[in-house]
Amino acid sequence: MTKIYLAIIFCILSTNIFSQNLTIEKKVNELLKKMTLEEKIGQLNQYNDDNTATGPPTIDNNKADQIKKGQVGSLLNCLGVERTRSWQELAMQSRLKIPLLFGQDVIHGYKTTFPIPLAESCSWDLEAMEQSARIAAIEASASGIHWTFAPMVDIARDPRWGRVMEGAGEDTYLGALIAKVRVKGFQGNKLGETNSIMACAKHFAAYGAAMGGRDYNSVDMSDRMLYETYLPPFKAAVDAGVATLMNSFNDINGIPATGNKKLQREILKGKWNFKGFVVSDWGSIGEMINHGTVKNEYEAALSAITAGSDMDMESRCYKNNLAQLVKEKKVDIQLVDDAVKRILTKKFELGLFDDPFKYCSKDREIKELNNPEHAKIARNISSKSIVLLKNENNTLPLSKNTKSIAFIGPLVKPLLQNKGFWDVELPGVDSNFIVSQWEGLQNKVGNSCKILYAKGCEIEGTDKSGFDEAIKIANESEIIILSIGERRDLSGEAKSRSNIVIPGVQVELFVALKKLGKPIVVLINAGRPLIFNEIADNADAILYTWWLGSEAGNAIADVLFGDYNPSAKLTITFPRSVGQIPIYYNHLNTGRPANSDDNHIYNSSYLDLSIYPKYEFGFGKSYTTFDYSQLKLSKHKIKKQEELEVSMWIKNTGNYDGEEIVQLYIRDKVASVSRPVLELKDFQKVFLKKGESKLLKFKIDKEKLSFFNSDLKWVTEPGEFEIMMGASSKDIRLKDNFELMD
Ligand code: BGC
Repeated sequence: MTKIYLAIIFCILSTNIFSQNLTIEKKVNELLKKMTLEEKIGQLNQYNDDNTATGPPTIDNNKADQIKKGQVGSLLNCLGVERTRSWQELAMQSRLKIPLLFGQDVIHGYKTTFPIPLAESCSWDLEAMEQSARIAAIEASASGIHWTFAPMVDIARDPRWGRVMEGAGEDTYLGALIAKVRVKGFQGNKLGETNSIMACAKHFAAYGAAMGGRDYNSVDMSDRMLYETYLPPFKAAVDAGVATLMNSFNDINGIPATGNKKLQREILKGKWNFKGFVVSDWGSIGEMINHGTVKNEYEAALSAITAGSDMDMESRCYKNNLAQLVKEKKVDIQLVDDAVKRILTKKFELGLFDDPFKYCSKDREIKELNNPEHAKIARNISSKSIVLLKNENNTLPLSKNTKSIAFIGPLVKPLLQNKGFWDVELPGVDSNFIVSQWEGLQNKVGNSCKILYAKGCEIEGTDKSGFDEAIKIANESEIIILSIGERRDLSGEAKSRSNIVIPGVQVELFVALKKLGKPIVVLINAGRPLIFNEIADNADAILYTWWLGSEAGNAIADVLFGDYNPSAKLTITFPRSVGQIPIYYNHLNTGRPANSDDNHIYNSSYLDLSIYPKYEFGFGKSYTTFDYSQLKLSKHKIKKQEELEVSMWIKNTGNYDGEEIVQLYIRDKVASVSRPVLELKDFQKVFLKKGESKLLKFKIDKEKLSFFNSDLKWVTEPGEFEIMMGASSKDIRLKDNFELMD
């Protein structure tokens, strides 16, 4: 008897151990075998919860029923431990108890709001960006979320496009580095740790090149441009282990990205060997009908699944058509199985089969959403994202002995405006945790300085009745700080603008205040590069503050009073006129380049407009100054397999400690295809005490000198290269040449 008993125990134990040791792949295959076609299709189906929506929502009154039948794989816009738990409980009533995935746009923070991604990218601080994504993941995962639809890694060269705010700017090299750290930040050490969420690199691909900067518009571009400029940040995200990708709304050369087999099957899942899954953008499968590449939802589902779109966000095309497509043998069941496996694999990796409620701890939610450390870090990252564009006569930093300030403008007092476009509206959480600009300044100066306030005008509209009050308090003060810009929902999705000036009468308010002859510091709050020539030319100091999030007020005050010396540099070109767009630093030279604004004789210029931007890529000032010297190349001729060491000295020659972002650019002088006049290939952000010098070393290898030739081959061609060390893409301080030999 005892022997039989022991044998049974042994069997049970070994089965357990065996099942624990089953690899995820085996577990997925076993589960797949048990699934009906309907259940499989359910996994590919993602619905919006009943609240926020970023697209036209579909009303569905029997979502709960469908979840219980295993017909839904994922929900988006479902927030908080309680709500996610209640949906997950329904999924646990389904036959196979496959847990739901909860996705959310956690773009610049969850409860603690960080600077918008474009602002953060101006910090060029990869560690800081990883940390901000990490904190967003810690908070979101504590609140029931498994998956963020971020980072957006679209290269963006057109500031009319409202979504420039969501990316890392115009440069591919920097964009790829940022893509990588943001993925690492969201996903943490590994999926499955309770504070890690899946990242989603979006929008695949070339969404940022929408014609005319109009959101969702068509993209027409050469394969070479696609490979060289738009795809590398996605590749970097894949190499960093990104769990998912989202495809884009646009068509590329006539083929909608969602039905684009070449992009998704050949490049992403083929050449790049991506093992995660692809989610469509909101309704983008059904929208192929509007694109005119399919006749109806049946054809749309066929096109999307064939092209490699695994999960259908909100279009219901898969749910309503895939079964029929499989039965009619238009879609091979293996295509469906592959998509299901990819999704199930992630659910296993997240550990949801072991504990579907592992992200549903109320204690953790309370703790992490109220973690004071997060605010401290946000304050620091916000300071790092503010770009000092102008500082005549060292107007800034303000002296701590300043006795009176007129703080004027429609953006001084609002709380929510600081949050930027992608705001997560948490149930039961009000906005009191946001530090307004007004409060930030009060926190900084206490009673030592009298701060007077006037709104002056609204962000939009023509009403100037507040000007008198603004002028009155300005007259009573030593210095004016004017906070103006865009409303937070003037940049973001579907927020393209054709005339990207500062709206309303805000510039007129500036002009009226400027006449008083007092020093005037302008804070510009926006989600994109705006055009503000009058202010640029006449203000004493300008801080581009973007939208900085929860700690905006404190961070701005830190910079105004020199407790943080600004170090950010622009990652996107600021045009002086809409007519210059698209304008970006790494353009080709043309056969007839223009070299000045004075000569238009048969060269590539405008008769009525400068060829130069207002502020160039890489530009940003500090309260101190830096001297670049002694550029040295380890060799002037290198072989393809050799590395070149580039060194230089940098010295802080001003009166404040500070950080400089030293940029290394190259130019490939002669190649089989025309190369950009300048290409960023490295940078270092270095802190120097006043008077301090440091030796900086950079490495150039073959990879940095290679490019896609006209056959789309990644090649390294011998020839002469120029190395340029700059404080911006225009402010090149040191140069030398070297030759790459065969
Ligand atoms: C946007 C995506 C977003 C999705 C879900 C779409 O309209 O383009 O970036 O992740 O909505 O909210």
